[in-house]
Amino acid sequence: MALQAQAATNISLGHTLSSTSHYSVGAEAFKETLERLSDGAFTVTEHASGSLGGEREMIEGLQIGTVDVVITSSGPLGNFVPETYVLDLPFLFESYDQARCVLDSDIGDELLAKMSDHGLVGMAWSENGFRHLTNSQREIASPADTEGLRVRTMENAVHQEAFRQMGARPTPMAFPELFTALQQGTVDGQENPITVIVATNFWEVQDYLSLTGHVYSPAIVLGSPILLDGLNDEERDWFMQAAAASVDATREEVSRLEREGVALLEANGMTVKTDIDPAPFQQAVEPAYEIFTSQYGSDMLDRIREKA
Ligand code: PAF
Repeated sequence: MALQAQAATNISLGHTLSSTSHYSVGAEAFKETLERLSDGAFTVTEHASGSLGGEREMIEGLQIGTVDVVITSSGPLGNFVPETYVLDLPFLFESYDQARCVLDSDIGDELLAKMSDHGLVGMAWSENGFRHLTNSQREIASPADTEGLRVRTMENAVHQEAFRQMGARPTPMAFPELFTALQQGTVDGQENPITVIVATNFWEVQDYLSLTGHVYSPAIVLGSPILLDGLNDEERDWFMQAAAASVDATREEVSRLEREGVALLEANGMTVKTDIDPAPFQQAVEPAYEIFTSQYGSDMLDRIREKA
């Protein structure tokens, strides 16, 4: 029977950000590309704003087949695929060009391939952006200013360690709980890229932003093996092309928000500290590297540093 004569297969695509975010731009590109290439044999329904749960829950959903495709940060990924923790090391990358070059190389491909050992399909590395610190208490210019600050981190061991080394009190939490936690003062601050700070209207609950750029946050388009392993080669290729289109659209939107986002945050009342000296932050988080390499070795880290 011709594919068009069959009922369309609906694909659920989840992410945690709003429908105005860069993830949503990526989700739209995925949907448009897959529906066009498959001539409507596959349709895509986007589930934005964490309506399918936080990122850790959605990754679990991929493993058991309750969700088909997820766009997620690397935040909770290391809990499933520890090899990816290397990408979470603070100050590993200095620029978008450097990070994209590494993720688009054999190194990125190798890390994507590791997903299949853990019940996931790594389709493509996408982007969230360089992470910066916001808080409701004071201007942060150096690690000393973070002393005692309750900072929500992602559920990521490397990030938690880095904030502990800076003197802050890291509080791991799923993103869908964060806005209320900031509003109620359960935590004082959080760290995310400009893209997320804009998409989540964090100016409503956070007065200060410091452009620390302390870590590059990759995102990833992940698929469920329960769906993808059942596809023929042509269908699988449509999905991979859709993931690639999603990455291109997301990166373009991240670049736009990097150019325009800070002015928008200032216009909404945030005090933005732009002239941060990264050296004391780099020094403070150095032990995170020692802890990482003693656990996972330095091979991948050395390769990334050579390539970057
Ligand atoms: O902070 C996080 O958990 C992530 O950066 C987010 C906002 C869910 C995007 O992947």
